[in-house]
Amino acid sequence: MNLILFGPPGAGKGTQAKFIVDSFNIPQISTGDMLRSAVKEQTPLGLVAKQLMESGALVPDDVVLGIVRERIVLSDCANGFVLDGFPRTIPQADALELILEQMNKRIDHVISLDVESAAIVERLSGRRTCSSCGKGYHLIYDPPRVAALCDSCGAALIQREDDREETVQNRLAVYEQQTAPLKAYYEQAGLLRHIDGGGAIQDIQLQIKKVIQGCIGDHP
Ligand code: AP5
Repeated sequence: MNLILFGPPGAGKGTQAKFIVDSFNIPQISTGDMLRSAVKEQTPLGLVAKQLMESGALVPDDVVLGIVRERIVLSDCANGFVLDGFPRTIPQADALELILEQMNKRIDHVISLDVESAAIVERLSGRRTCSSCGKGYHLIYDPPRVAALCDSCGAALIQREDDREETVQNRLAVYEQQTAPLKAYYEQAGLLRHIDGGGAIQDIQLQIKKVIQGCIGDHP
């Protein structure tokens, strides 16, 4: 089962991808996470990506395609994967189709998390991430048990550089210009499944489960 989780910044792609990983035992491929770890490790790729990410711009297609190509052929993707934050442009979507064709694979569903802009700004401004294990939180909707500390490993929670308000506005504009056209692209391909991403995290999980169960039939 090969999935794309689609939606604007802060729609809940990462949150729901973790649920899919835990429930269906397929890996999450998050281009954002891979780029952030390259930035942290100061690799050549990270040096290219850093400024672009901090400004809310997209990293060039060929750079992102390079990391997806390397990741998607690994053995843990043999039974499927959930793409989070990729593709983000029409050329990325075209290239993904070619990559999958060469592997005799195809995308089963593109799950679009539809959320209004006002909710997105609130979600991103309240988002915190563990500085050590990367677990995500929200100050209001998914707070840690002890303020500012990770429930899983106890490390400090931090705010992402690109979650500052002015960068968020730019990320939303970039999404509208470059990524939103993919909705029509996947609608035409008959793959787009709309989900109301504005509700509670657990309600969205239920909706996603229904879409996926439609795909694999007898999964519990
Ligand atoms: P990336 O990391 O992919 O960021 P994004 O797409 O902007 O998405 P986010 O991670 O911000 O949000 P999300 O939808 O995962 O929401 P989350 O679950 O965390 O990309 C970052 C940058 O990398 C890009 O700007 C670009 O520069 C570069 N990049 C990445 N991929 C690229 C590509 N393919 N091509 C080119 N460049 C690329 O939720 C947000 C918050 O809300 C959390 O605090 C969460 O707890 C909370 N929350 C989630 N769901 C709910 C809910 N239902 N109700 C209340 N709160 C909720």
